[in-house]
Amino acid sequence: MPQLNELDDNSFRRFREIIYEESGIKLNESKRALVQARLMKRLRELDIDTYRDYYDYLMDNYRDEIVNLINVITTNKTDFFREPKHFEYMSGEALPEFARSGKRNLKIWSAGCSTGEEPYSIAITAHRFFGDKKPLDVRILATDIDTQVLNRGKAGVYKAEDILEVVDVPTAKRYFQKGTGENEGLLRVKDFIRSMVHFRRLNLLDSSFPMKGVFDIIFCRNVIIYFDRESQKRLFENFHRYLAEDGYLFIGHSETLSGITDRFVFVRNTIYRKTPRTR
Ligand SMILES: C[S@@+](CC[C@H](N)C(=O)[O-])C[C@H]1O[C@@H](n2cnc3c(N)ncnc32)[C@H](O)[C@@H]1O
Repeated sequence: MPQLNELDDNSFRRFREIIYEESGIKLNESKRALVQARLMKRLRELDIDTYRDYYDYLMDNYRDEIVNLINVITTNKTDFFREPKHFEYMSGEALPEFARSGKRNLKIWSAGCSTGEEPYSIAITAHRFFGDKKPLDVRILATDIDTQVLNRGKAGVYKAEDILEVVDVPTAKRYFQKGTGENEGLLRVKDFIRSMVHFRRLNLLDSSFPMKGVFDIIFCRNVIIYFDRESQKRLFENFHRYLAEDGYLFIGHSETLSGITDRFVFVRNTIYRKTPRTR
């Protein structure tokens, strides 16, 4: 095992500048121990002894290694039906309204989707509401900067105990397949739900995004807390552009748009629209 020294001032400064440039994630002095621990994981994988050597390695292999560096730095905590009020609002208000509007397709974006629990919760909520008849074609784009979490999301395999903590047994049976043998204790999201979700790598701080068209709902929850004010402002300008006129924006429970943008209309805590409801 490599002998790992402390993350010195100079290395910390250089890594945090690169991380900020590449992902918008702002790491102040209070995050030094966290950065050190997460970088250490990568040093061990590469069998590199010091942070300085890792910096040189990063410089020599920038295009490939920057992805791995960002993968170890991101915080990916998530859960099925996390912040349940958003899913209640979706099925109680937003989906009935979209159904009445005569729309044929519904496009939803889970921006900063982590390991997939959020986009699959959205898909399950839509399926529960619309049923198999699918009067509306619901497609969910799930994006994240971290390639490892995207691969886990695509696989759609989770610990049964985590799912059963938030979902009742009939719902689990309806939407998940039980693992057997070496997959005992795991559940896999069923294909008809997985096919509603498309995972893609996307850096939310890129100046523009490759998607065409607008979204009816954007979920961007527990992501902007890692960004500074300037980056947050830029992101919400882009979200404004990518949201349908009658679209909704859901942000995380500890986040607010106040002081960042006044382009959205407040509906209720952490729920916004692009324009006020006219009906
Ligand atoms: C704490 S998780 C939130 C997951 C989910 N939205 C939820 O609320 O449960 C934050 C996610 O944002 C992603 N992220 C951080 N910076 C990003 C960026 N610049 N572009 C895209 N995703 C980013 C991280 O990789 C991580 O998976």
